[in-house]
Amino acid sequence: MPESLVNRCHALPAGSKLCILGAGFTGRRVASLADALKIRVITTRRNPEPGSGTLQFDSTQKIVPMEADLKGVTHLLSTIPPGPDETDPVLQSLGPQLGQLPLRWAGYLSTTGIYGDTGGDWVSETDAPQPTQERSRRRLICEQQWLNSGLPVQILRLPGIYGPGRSPFAAVKAGNLRPVNKPGQVFSRVHVDDIAAACLHLMHCSASGQHPPVVNICDHEPAPSHLLQRHAADLLNCDLPEARDYAAAEADMSAMARSFWAENRRVSNDLLCKTLGYSMIHPNYRSGLVQCLEEERLRGMLTQAAQD
Ligand SMILES: NC(=O)c1ccc[n+]([C@@H]2O[C@H](COP(=O)([O-])OP(=O)(O)OC[C@H]3O[C@@H](n4cnc5c(N)ncnc54)[C@H](OP(=O)(O)O)[C@@H]3O)[C@@H](O)[C@H]2O)c1
Repeated sequence: MPESLVNRCHALPAGSKLCILGAGFTGRRVASLADALKIRVITTRRNPEPGSGTLQFDSTQKIVPMEADLKGVTHLLSTIPPGPDETDPVLQSLGPQLGQLPLRWAGYLSTTGIYGDTGGDWVSETDAPQPTQERSRRRLICEQQWLNSGLPVQILRLPGIYGPGRSPFAAVKAGNLRPVNKPGQVFSRVHVDDIAAACLHLMHCSASGQHPPVVNICDHEPAPSHLLQRHAADLLNCDLPEARDYAAAEADMSAMARSFWAENRRVSNDLLCKTLGYSMIHPNYRSGLVQCLEEERLRGMLTQAAQD
């Protein structure tokens, strides 16, 4: 957890208790930040390690945290994606319990996939969602359920999440990254530290009466993926093959990968940054990649050869 990240964030008022449902990649980072700020925080996973202090929550097994564990939760963050049906897993299994809590803020991590394809145009929270993928349609249904839940909900729409341990460095180093170029295609993205810091920022905004129901959290610079990969290779001083044309690469792609390439949009963060006054830690992938490399090296996530 970078010290600069902790230093720029503010703790919550005394007596606050944050519950993070789903301590996966993003949930763990938000929990670490809260912990560093001395905020009381509880987290859940489906199969927590015994003795880790993480609570067990698995909606599919109907295993839910005890009422006593959730008692006094004032701030909630759900990172749990939709299940296969059209009901949000958290609201379905914990909804009535959440309704009993003294909640001041309830964040729901969603996806900018609900905007669909804009042909590369900018899209903001005021644009009507036009999901094209089945998973995005289910996501939009979950968003609606959260908004209708009666809880103090804020929907946080995220593009591709990257960060230490979820960056291109290991693949570049292993030599198994094959960049693809589709002219005009860009992807929006966000560094996980900006999600964590923005969550804290939004909790404070909400406490002072600024609580838009939906907020995009993304960086300032949508960009082609091959440029990010090239930059990662340059930072490592590694070779990378020339980008292949999408038309040639498409046949080798999984259906999931093709579905990502089928949508092209630039997601605006004006509401978060201009209206709500959040300043991005990593305004673009170049800044974010430097942080990832630094932390991956510190944590020994790259081999010695990659560090030379
Ligand atoms: N990855 C991206 O680029 C991206 C982009 C846009 C939006 N999002 C969305 O943003 C959210 C956070 O993303 P992430 O990448 O941090 O996700 P992640 O690492 O996959 O974490 C998801 C968490 O949800 C928990 N979970 C999943 N199904 C559950 C269930 N049925 N019952 C209880 N817990 C369940 C997982 O439990 P375990 O820890 O036990 O696995 C995990 O802790 C997700 O909703 C994701 O779909 C992701």
